[in-house]
Amino acid sequence: MNAKASMRIGDRQIELDIVESSEGDNGVDISNLRKELGVVTLDSGFANTAANTSSVSFIDGEAGILRYRGYPIEQLAEQSTFLEVAFLLNYGELPTKAELDAFEESITMHSLLREDMKQLFEAFPHEAHPMQILASATSALASYYPEDLDPTDREAVDLSARRLIAKMPTMISWAYKYRVHQPYVYPRNDLPYVARFLHTMFSLPTSEYVVDPVIAQALDVLLILHADHGQNCSSTAVRLVGSGRADVFASVAAGICALSGPLHGGANQEVIEMLERIVADGGDVSKWVAKAKDKNDPFRLMGFGHRVYKNFDPRARIIKQTAQDVLAKLGRDDPLLDVAMQLEEVALSDDYFIERKLYPNVDFYSGIIYRAMGFPTDMFPVLFALGRLPGWLAQWRELTSDPDLRIYRPRQVYVGPTERDYVPIDQR
Ligand code: CMC
Repeated sequence: MNAKASMRIGDRQIELDIVESSEGDNGVDISNLRKELGVVTLDSGFANTAANTSSVSFIDGEAGILRYRGYPIEQLAEQSTFLEVAFLLNYGELPTKAELDAFEESITMHSLLREDMKQLFEAFPHEAHPMQILASATSALASYYPEDLDPTDREAVDLSARRLIAKMPTMISWAYKYRVHQPYVYPRNDLPYVARFLHTMFSLPTSEYVVDPVIAQALDVLLILHADHGQNCSSTAVRLVGSGRADVFASVAAGICALSGPLHGGANQEVIEMLERIVADGGDVSKWVAKAKDKNDPFRLMGFGHRVYKNFDPRARIIKQTAQDVLAKLGRDDPLLDVAMQLEEVALSDDYFIERKLYPNVDFYSGIIYRAMGFPTDMFPVLFALGRLPGWLAQWRELTSDPDLRIYRPRQVYVGPTERDYVPIDQR
């Protein structure tokens, strides 16, 4: 017999079903709580709430484990590719060679944007943040494919997902090109996915960009490491919008908006800006650690702390090593890497960070690699978005293929004024 939980309020007690996980926390099904006991649950930041069951990725925050569809992130980073991971997340299994070839080919053939989309980029001021442009362009894509927007048409959804994976690198690079007043570069379909993206970003009509395999490989690893992360803020935004039966483009655009915040995907940009400030200020890392601890100072150590990881972030471990490898292979030095490592060392031996279990997260070292690749700082969050895209799509498909899907609609505990009469303006 399945285990049950019970809840008592006053003299009324009910039994609650326990939904068993295959690994990790089981869930107490409280869906009848209000009907049976007349109360709702209250959980700030959803820290203790599972919004849904999912089989896309598994995180054990205490043990520092992240797996996509059961495969450890370390193995995928070392042996897989971003497109193979995108296939795995979206279809549940690693592809055969023939499946992967067909998937890659279908992505490649959708890499081009409609020519009139240029007008959309050009409607923005040149100094617009690339996340703002990317969110708008993603949302606008829906208007080019009105015949394929029905969330219940699985073939149309599949086509839209492939279009998004194919076109997002082109949208990102065109947002960049517009920004820096350079001509747009069309995707070269003879190049593999990541190299094609780098080429559209950095090539010029006057000088062809030759993709360095060290850079392409490191970017592929970074994209893999960002590809999914359970019910994080942006994936939850994607699901929430999808639960209202909005199309996949609108849902992903919502994910991009959610990701743009400095506590989420905007943190990688903030980390570099913080490291630059520390270097410009003389490089005294203990001063900045003290600022981060000071409750009267709003400063936080960006790239530190995580809602789920309370031991270490397995992605950060791989990224730190990748940052060191990439700089060594490119024969470059970056003073920000030295400061970052000092900051990590000082923070990790400090009681404030130890007690609160605050460790470097995925964003702490990734910016140092993006910098070495030549990306300007405000492009970092869009690189996070490109990496997270397959996860958003997988989460959205899981949501919309659930026969029991209900619109996301949380309750609230109302604490505002009780009923009172309207007072005409001349009597207030
Ligand atoms: N620097 C200084 N103190 C911190 C930090 C930090 N980076 N992060 C958390 N704390 C403190 C916080 O002040 C609180 O202290 P106290 O218990 O004394 O009030 C305690 O640690 C718990 O913090 P919290 O804000 O309640 O934790 P949370 O789970 O709600 O927030 C977080 C998680 C990632 C938003 C937060 O750690 C943070 O703001 N980090 C900096 C931003 C960042 O690096 N974000 C990227 C997250 S990883 C990638 C992603 O998800 O996009």
